[in-house]
Amino acid sequence: MTRLGVLASGRGSNFQSIIDSIDSGYLYAKVELLITDNPEAFAIERARKSRIPFKIMEPSHYPDRDSYYRAIAEELKKRGVELVILAGFMRVVKKPLIDAYPMRIMNIHPALLPSFPGLHGQRQAVEYGVKISGCTVHFVDEGVDTGPIIVQAAVPVYHDDTEESLSERILMEEHKIYPYAIKLFIEGRLKVDDRRVIILDQKREEDKIINPPLE
Ligand code: GAR
Repeated sequence: MTRLGVLASGRGSNFQSIIDSIDSGYLYAKVELLITDNPEAFAIERARKSRIPFKIMEPSHYPDRDSYYRAIAEELKKRGVELVILAGFMRVVKKPLIDAYPMRIMNIHPALLPSFPGLHGQRQAVEYGVKISGCTVHFVDEGVDTGPIIVQAAVPVYHDDTEESLSERILMEEHKIYPYAIKLFIEGRLKVDDRRVIILDQKREEDKIINPPLE
């Protein structure tokens, strides 16, 4: 059973989709620890409800960012975490954590990277006027949303979309592709070749998860 550590800053709906995927048997994994930088995060309630240990770690309690991420890495290692999941963790992860988990940290971003990295990916897409956006699961490197892409899903953008309506449509796909990406990792089917992530032995029906038909 693969040991997961989840980092979340807010609502935690992606965290919940991972919990649900474990509960349903889709993922053979266990969440060993939730770490949040926000004492108000609703993700904490979700952890409580599912009896998942959680830790509130606020950057302001550490002398600098490197010590903050070193402390996070230590907590994760202490619990034997093998894969780190950023689920709405609204911070740029620094070197000490990345070095502790090379190509073992995943992030989900609400846009089709490399378009619209950083904050408010959905708002950026609406304002730019693209006709298709979506979401991306990628491995985390030292850049902002620049790591090797694992899976993506596309959704249409309509002329009357708002940031909220587009976010809702994208979120539905996030909740499918994140568990799928984690499953691929657990099954040992992700091979990182420089910038490219190769999905080994990809099955045709899985293609529908990452390429849902555009409505
Ligand atoms: C999700 O849409 C996720 O893609 C986004 O924050 C939301 C978190 O929702 N993440 C980022 O923008 C990271 N740069 P959740 O807390 O309900 O999972």
